[in-house]
Amino acid sequence: MKDSYELAEMQDAVDATQRGFNEVLASLGDASAHPRGERVVEGVFNHRARLDGNEVGYETIAAAGPHACTLHWIRNDGPVQEGDLLLLDAGVELDSLYTADITRTIPISGTFSETQRKVYETVLEAADAARAIVKPGIRFGDVHDAAMAVIERVTREWGFLPEADGTPYHRRYMVHGTSHHLGLDVHDCAQARRDMYLDGVLEPGMVFTIEPGLYFQPDDLTVPAEFRGIGIRIEDDIVVTEDGCVNLSANIPRTADDVEAWVQGARKA
Ligand code: GLY
Ligand code: MN
Ligand code: MN
Repeated sequence: MKDSYELAEMQDAVDATQRGFNEVLASLGDASAHPRGERVVEGVFNHRARLDGNEVGYETIAAAGPHACTLHWIRNDGPVQEGDLLLLDAGVELDSLYTADITRTIPISGTFSETQRKVYETVLEAADAARAIVKPGIRFGDVHDAAMAVIERVTREWGFLPEADGTPYHRRYMVHGTSHHLGLDVHDCAQARRDMYLDGVLEPGMVFTIEPGLYFQPDDLTVPAEFRGIGIRIEDDIVVTEDGCVNLSANIPRTADDVEAWVQGARKA
């Protein structure tokens, strides 16, 4: 549980991270013009982290196009091309060493394709379903289960999954956990025992991420060609309150329409 000082630090870390994301969006033209545009993105974000905080909280993931399907893509040496998505997973660590951990996935051109939007809205639905159940007394693992129920339902509706037989086939497209605790470490308390972590019960003042995703590998023949190479994650930082939760990163655009407007505004400026 974090006290009021710690929660204020977490919000400051998120706000500094938002400034870094805004600057990345404003630099998309430069990124697109460079053969290693992902490095431009990393450089812009990390510059903000050094100015406003101590450092980045973890190595910035700047993953454009199919690189988003590689979970911890930190080589960041690929191009940033119109028509592709950019998955940016980055966090400013303050001088107090508290860190944010935020992901946004944006259309580099400013407009999602029909398929990109379809995937985006599914990930958003999973994130919102997970956040909707957060309150004291539920199990930490319930948050993951709520997100996965959406991922399974929709990928089944799309016809990607074999007949249901109890096997979690949908995990092929979402290969990581939905949440981890966050604070002084990006994966705070990661060594905690299972009964204190996944099976642990939420209490007010806990801070953790909600970060579902969908990743369709470029060579995955279980999905139609137009889905291949799309990787999307939306990651927010959440604090448990007495009767629910607050999303510390709610001010960073999340809906598909808001994200498009955000990119278009930044690219015009
Ligand atoms: N940035 C690492 C993670 O989201 O867990
Ligand atoms: Mn995370
Ligand atoms: Mn992250």
